[in-house]
Amino acid sequence: MNLIITTIPRKANPVKKPHPSDVLEYGKYLVDAAACAECHTQQEKGQKVKGMDFAGRFGFSLQNGFVLLANFTTRETGLLNYSKQAFINRFKIYADSSYVDPMVEENGFQTVMPWKMYATMT
Ligand code: HEC
Repeated sequence: MNLIITTIPRKANPVKKPHPSDVLEYGKYLVDAAACAECHTQQEKGQKVKGMDFAGRFGFSLQNGFVLLANFTTRETGLLNYSKQAFINRFKIYADSSYVDPMVEENGFQTVMPWKMYATMT
């Protein structure tokens, strides 16, 4: 524990929050703050592979299989297939207090994506 405490924590590097009207900068800020790239970018030995931002090829081993993340950077598999409203709705359904996680069937799995944590973001 002593080794961890003296080697791993780094000084915080606070950044200025962009104004929400600056859509591009504000979006980058939210994506960084929410750590989306930590799961949606391919990693090797715990490091994100340069140039592979949001390109998927990263996955999670589950008890009954493997979830491979989609490549968000192509027209076919990426987020361009979402309209702005569909994208927002995909997150907002989890903000409804009456939402109940679906029962998982045998050999199924609950989503790894932390939808509920993001559901109340604006
Ligand atoms: C803890 C890991 C993790 C983090 C952090 C994460 N995701 Fe995900 N995400 C996943 C996984 C795994 C899936 C695949 C589907 C599933 O497991 O439900 C997914 C699926 C998605 C999908 C659905 C893609 C589709 O094909 O419909 C979207 C959109 C998405 N993530 C966006 C984001 C955004 C935006 C952020 C940051 C705000 C984010 N994710 C952060 C793990 C993560």
